[in-house]
Amino acid sequence: MTDLSTLKSEVQQAVEAANDIAALEEARVSALGKKGRVTELLKTLGTLPETERKDFGARINVLKSELENLIEARKAKLGTAALDARLMSEKADVTLSVRPEDKGAIHPISRTIADIVALLSPLGFSVAEGPDIESDFYNFAALNMPPDHPARQMQDTFYLGLGDSGAGGLESSNPESPSPQAPMVLRTHTSPVQVRTMLQSKPPIRILAPGRVFRRDFDQTHAPMFHQVEGLVIDETTHMGHLKGVLMDFLRGFFGVPDLKVRFRPSYFPFTEPSAEVDIGCSRPGGKIKIGEGDDWLEVLGCGMVHGKVLNNCNIDPAKYQGFAFGMGVERLAMLKYGIPDLRTFFEADLRWLRHYGFSVLGD
Ligand code: DAH
Repeated sequence: MTDLSTLKSEVQQAVEAANDIAALEEARVSALGKKGRVTELLKTLGTLPETERKDFGARINVLKSELENLIEARKAKLGTAALDARLMSEKADVTLSVRPEDKGAIHPISRTIADIVALLSPLGFSVAEGPDIESDFYNFAALNMPPDHPARQMQDTFYLGLGDSGAGGLESSNPESPSPQAPMVLRTHTSPVQVRTMLQSKPPIRILAPGRVFRRDFDQTHAPMFHQVEGLVIDETTHMGHLKGVLMDFLRGFFGVPDLKVRFRPSYFPFTEPSAEVDIGCSRPGGKIKIGEGDDWLEVLGCGMVHGKVLNNCNIDPAKYQGFAFGMGVERLAMLKYGIPDLRTFFEADLRWLRHYGFSVLGD
């Protein structure tokens, strides 16, 4: 009769000698497969006398499960070794420079935001961010848009959860928690980041707040999600002359026209006083906009001196501090600069569009 311990050590040797999963499988089949040595032994059980059968059967089954455990352990070891080998062979050097033949491209929105930040950060602006989902307090009330303020209607707001007209107020005490009168909103502008920044830090403040904003609107020049960059400067002596200087320099740099005509036209925003809209000089030959020439004007952004009530709402003393703010639409600036005719195409993820309007990762 076969000596079980010899069988065991033979199979054990074969298992340990297996250097890859295929060799291990071969060893497994030759012992435990349909015609394997252990299986064949089990088949002989029926030929044994009753007295031996039980004992021998039990021993074979013990051997069988021992061998299965051995094989499993070896398999785990080989698997780790194979993974290690694969990780070594597929190692990527992340410090290597980008390969120009790989056709990834930077989206015009990312590029435009990077350009805006690059042009303004030398003046001391740093980037601040806020959440897409805002409370009524940050999006409206603190920005001098109390309940029933008509400017709330101008913003085509997406309200989250149930609520009535969405008219909240400073009185809705906790700025973070929504109420039926003041539900959370998808922020309609990046101006709430002004409020968050002023509540969190002390002047002097110079920030840019790029980010997504949301409004219920959809046509060639409007999308329900788009991007803005907000600017805010608060200091003791900051005045409208600074506002004009910063924005004129910025627009001339952005459009690459050193003598670009820039006009500040009186306007209204609840959070600034006085307020202005900014136009740049252009012409429209045959309906096409050409920036930097001609006698026509094109509106590009909104701005003003931060309203005393907004400063008060943000615990900044308007008797001591003042400053300016501005807000611009990123898609609009990108459309004008790069000649992109339809705002909706920014978000269609059409690869042909991205290849055409995208920017090389290596710069241009
Ligand atoms: N928040 C305004 C909007 O979305 C844009 C804006 C206008 C921002 C004037 C400002 C500002 O900071 O001073 O329509």
